[in-house]
Order: sequence, then structure tokens, then C-alpha cells
Amino acid sequence: MAKIIGGLTTSHIPAVGNAIANEMYDDPYWKPFFDGYPPIREWLGDHKPDVAILIYNDHGLAFFLDQMPTFAIGAAHEYRNEDEGWGIPVVPPYPGDAKMSWHIIEQMVEDEFDVTSCQELPVDHGFTVPMQLFWPDRGPDMPRTIPVSANTVQHPIPTLKRALDFGKSLRQAILSYPEDINVVILGTGGLSHQLDGERAGFINKEFDQMCMEKIVSDPEALTKISRHELVRQAGAQGTEFLMWLMMRGALSKEVNLISSNYHIPISNTGAGTMVMECVD
Ligand code: DHB
Ligand code: FE
Repeated sequence: MAKIIGGLTTSHIPAVGNAIANEMYDDPYWKPFFDGYPPIREWLGDHKPDVAILIYNDHGLAFFLDQMPTFAIGAAHEYRNEDEGWGIPVVPPYPGDAKMSWHIIEQMVEDEFDVTSCQELPVDHGFTVPMQLFWPDRGPDMPRTIPVSANTVQHPIPTLKRALDFGKSLRQAILSYPEDINVVILGTGGLSHQLDGERAGFINKEFDQMCMEKIVSDPEALTKISRHELVRQAGAQGTEFLMWLMMRGALSKEVNLISSNYHIPISNTGAGTMVMECVD
């Protein structure tokens, strides 16, 4: 049966795509950020997941404000990237696992999570930047991918409780997959940031660090935060924290924190990177 080995988090800031393209790993601005990734790559090298379920929010490439699924799951054999206008290089397609995607979609709809199935899904920086950070050389160990997109862009967005519950349902769907494979779950985006309006540039270090602590020890406590409070505390785009909660819901109740890094600012964002290992 499929096994969930752990969860990873990372911000997915487009400027990181440029820093990678220009190999700015030792640049003083970028070094404290990139230094968070070698321990994670080491953990991935030791565990070699077969499939990565990558939870992100589409930013207008696949879905726009006219058609916005609350939760969408890729069911394609591969996922191609396109130019979003950020000036970052378009990267080659990533392999999918359509068979496992359909299993997850069927199980989650059975569990009354009415997800949108996407047999074609162009993936944006929310997907490609994390993949580049965790599997930079795209070697033979790079896992097959299943993108899961959540609406954190157009209100009404899901509640924090719904995000955690989505993860719990995703967990049951994965654990009922009959193949003996290891699965890792990625929650991308965040932490606090606001890209426009009067509070453009807003970052809340205390709130971010509280979220990074509670997501390990007591994720249920985070579901008490209302969506308005999340925007107030984390900024308009800090709603991307929902993807971290979706990831956390798919892990075991107890987890071991393997690695954690927080750095501000990267572009306009509080950048958080974590590895949580499942205990069962
Ligand atoms: C930035 C952060 C994001 O999450 C994003 O999608 C785009 C830009 C930023 O900090 O610049
Ligand atoms: Fe984003």
C-alpha cells in the first residue's frame, strides 16, 4: 500500500526562479534562503519518494477570476510550464501519475470533497519553483508529481479548518492506494506577504513563526483563525498558508520536525522551509 513519508513546505516566490537561473546561491541576499534546502535534499535523497503531491495555488495561468475551482487536482501524464510574465525561464514538463490521480479524485469525491479534475493543467511558479528547489538536477530520483491547486486568490477562499480537513481526506485517499510506493506531500506558498494596496510589503515575523511552530505541534489550533484574521495577520497573499495546512492534514497526527528555516524578506515574502517526517 502507499505510504506517506512526510511533508515539505517552501515559499514559491518567482524571484527565486531568477536566482536559480542565475545561480545566485552564494550571493549575500540569497544565501540565508538557499541554505535552508540542502538538509531537505539530503532527507529526500535518503527517502526517495516515488510520488510528490504538490499543493499550490494557481496565480492566473490555469485558472482566472472568471473560472476558479476551490480545489483542483491534476490527472495528467505530464504538466507543462508556461511563461507567466515574471521574466523567469520556462522549465521542461514534469511527469505525472494519472492512475494515482484518478484514485485520489475518486476517493475524495466519495468522501464528499467535490474536487475539479484536470486532465490538462499548465503549472505556474507555485509548482515549478518548489520542484526546482527540492529536485534541482531533475535526476532519476525526481518523483512523479500530482499537482493540487487551491483557491487562495479570489474570495471566498476555503476556511483554515476546511484546508486541514482536505488534507485528512487526501491522506485516506493516498493510504488506500494499493501500490507499494512512498509519497511526500508539499505545501507551498506563504508565509506572510502582501503584494499590493496600502499594506504592500507587509510581513509579520511573529505570526509566521507562530504558524511554523503550531503546524508541527497543534495544527488544529490554527483552524480557529478566521480567514479575515489570516489576511489581517499574514497579508492579502498570506492566505497561501492554507496550502501548508492542507499538506499538514495529510500527515500523521504526530510528526518529527527534521529541518526548519525562516528568512525575511525574500522579495516581498516571509520565506519558510520545513521538513516534517511522519511517525506512522
Ligand atoms: C511573490 C510571492 C508570491 O507568493 C507570489 O506568488 C508572487 C510574488 C513575491 O514575494 O514577490
Ligand atoms: Fe504566490
